[in-house]
Amino acid sequence: MKLLVTGGAGYIGSVVTRMLLDSGHDVTVLDDLRTGHREALAPEATHVDLPIHEAARVLTPDAGFEGVLHFAALIAAGESMVKPELYWDTNTIGSLALINAVRAARVPRMVFSSTAAVYGNPTELPIPETAVKAPTNTYGATKLAVDMALTSEAIAHDRAAVSLRYFNVAGAYLHGGRTIGERHDPETHLIPLALQVAAGKREKLQLFGDDYPTVDGTCVRDYIHVEDLARAHLLALTAAVPGQHRIYNLGNGSGFTVKQVIDVVREVTGHPVPVEVSPRREGDPVELVASSALAREELGWVPEKPTLRDMVGDAWAFYRDQVLGQR
Ligand SMILES: NC(=O)c1ccc[n+]([C@@H]2O[C@H](COP(=O)([O-])OP(=O)(O)OC[C@H]3O[C@@H](n4cnc5c(N)ncnc54)[C@H](O)[C@@H]3O)[C@@H](O)[C@H]2O)c1
Repeated sequence: MKLLVTGGAGYIGSVVTRMLLDSGHDVTVLDDLRTGHREALAPEATHVDLPIHEAARVLTPDAGFEGVLHFAALIAAGESMVKPELYWDTNTIGSLALINAVRAARVPRMVFSSTAAVYGNPTELPIPETAVKAPTNTYGATKLAVDMALTSEAIAHDRAAVSLRYFNVAGAYLHGGRTIGERHDPETHLIPLALQVAAGKREKLQLFGDDYPTVDGTCVRDYIHVEDLARAHLLALTAAVPGQHRIYNLGNGSGFTVKQVIDVVREVTGHPVPVEVSPRREGDPVELVASSALAREELGWVPEKPTLRDMVGDAWAFYRDQVLGQR
């Protein structure tokens, strides 16, 4: 298929682009590199340096695109609370412009990166797609708005759309002797932060709250390997049906505490990870674990790298290879 990938210079978009190219698709990446990395762009993909607000310049009716995978977004929940206007404009207004361009160009299918953040504090565990949506931060709200826009779009205009709601994405994709992995700036995700501490690039890891009602007092999260996540996108592309907006949670269905993650980082790297316990952060749910039963049933998706060891091991390989340049 001829595909447009927005955000293909970012962590997840670059891994999916790599897999799409390896599966024989023709990929154009639209990314203005505001948080992405030029070196993450796949050389075989065409790169268009534009904001998603201007997607119509590429997605013309004559261009012949057969699908859009939409990753481009700002993703820091904390920042979204202090710069909400930036998040509404980038994530929601930008996505609406993209959806308009998709409709005008009659692109038959669209896959959108949604997030577990749309659920807020879950009312049931593991969280099904039908759970109450009550985001506790602006980031989650901007994503939920796009999910809702896609539902109306699919019904009113007979479009095919799939939203994939990722839980915590981790790991790296090892490909042809190179690893493609996570490099956010500032980094807010637990595993890359813990690896920075293990590598001596950061003095200590801040642990927010150790008095939660869990096995060791720290929050429980569901982690999904980026390679498993990427495979779900390829499945979603073929599962999209006109007139339907399908929504799937993507996680492993098993939760790990923050302390368990840190222990695996210590084990895998062989380095100490000093921790400083701070008070709980406002709005952090105690436990977020996905039910991915629907993705398994309807997409035939099965995680192949479900262990923390796989995720931390691959993330560490990327960190040493690409960030520290030690291999
Ligand atoms: N990383 C996670 O754990 C996680 C979890 C849930 C959902 N998601 C979603 O997955 C998607 C990808 O996340 P990621 O971790 O790869 O993020 P990332 O920051 O690594 O990549 C985002 C990419 O989008 C580009 N971009 C941002 N705004 C743009 C705009 N307006 N126009 C053009 N390009 C723009 C950036 O330059 C960057 O290359 C996001 O939509 C995010 O909300 C990520």
